[in-house]
Amino acid sequence: MDAKTPGLLRDETLPPVVMPACPIDRKLLSQKVLVTGASSGIGRGIAIGLGHAGADVVVNYIRGEDQAQAIVEDVKSCGGNRAYAHRADISNEDEVREMFARMEAEFGGVDIVINNAGLQQDAPFDQMTLAQWNTVIGVNLTGQFLCSREAVRIFRRVGVKPNVSCSAGKIICISSVHDVIPWAGHVNYAASKGGVAMMMKSIAQEVAPWRIRVNAISPGAVRTPINMEAWSTPEAYAELMKLVPYKRIGEVDDIARAAVWLASDESDYVTGATLYVDGGMTLYPGFETGG
Ligand code: BGC
Repeated sequence: MDAKTPGLLRDETLPPVVMPACPIDRKLLSQKVLVTGASSGIGRGIAIGLGHAGADVVVNYIRGEDQAQAIVEDVKSCGGNRAYAHRADISNEDEVREMFARMEAEFGGVDIVINNAGLQQDAPFDQMTLAQWNTVIGVNLTGQFLCSREAVRIFRRVGVKPNVSCSAGKIICISSVHDVIPWAGHVNYAASKGGVAMMMKSIAQEVAPWRIRVNAISPGAVRTPINMEAWSTPEAYAELMKLVPYKRIGEVDDIARAAVWLASDESDYVTGATLYVDGGMTLYPGFETGG
């Protein structure tokens, strides 16, 4: 649109655009964040990324106490942030309740929850055990339900704190490209992530009137221990790249930057959205040359 074109954007009767007041680099200054499954992989990247953006961080873990403690030290070195590690199984209701209660007691509140903890237990479908099914659904889906429910209870009770954020709280569900891409040999995992996608949207719809935002990030292939087989040899990496139009593997920083934005007031009007951070993996890469 050139300067002479009349249009809605130039209608002076519209209210002025007011940008949310947040510092550019420390967008999350003093906001209290819980990152589940934060001792390694994507969770580790997000915990550090949010810490560098000024947040106080609870590093939840189930295994890897030393790694969790190292992340705590990293966050604390970012400029006076508070942080501690908390061991809890997020598929256990009592442990989740206790984790949130401690966070409210130690930090005086909860502003952001990153539902990241997740695992894979792969098997051909006809050999998949009920235990493999239940474990994956229990952590990847029920765990996100339990943590989201606890967060919403707190966000509703406390409401918007205008000097902290435009919203009463933010929940970010870490899903996967496999919330839309079927995955043979990983039926439990794909089912859990498909569940996360619809759970996230339904919660978002329900809690929006209380100014609570709920969104998801769906990573593609990110260089972490969970998928080491897919990137650790040149042959495997070349195969993987056939599925990634952008022709590089994702790094945890790619996901951390998206999480900082979705957790900050810069995305205040975004709720119920899934952000695919996948180098184009969901773009039907087979059609680059076929079809
Ligand atoms: C899985 C990885 C996989 C990636 C892309 C992720 O959700 O955890 O193992 O490499 O999706 O297929």
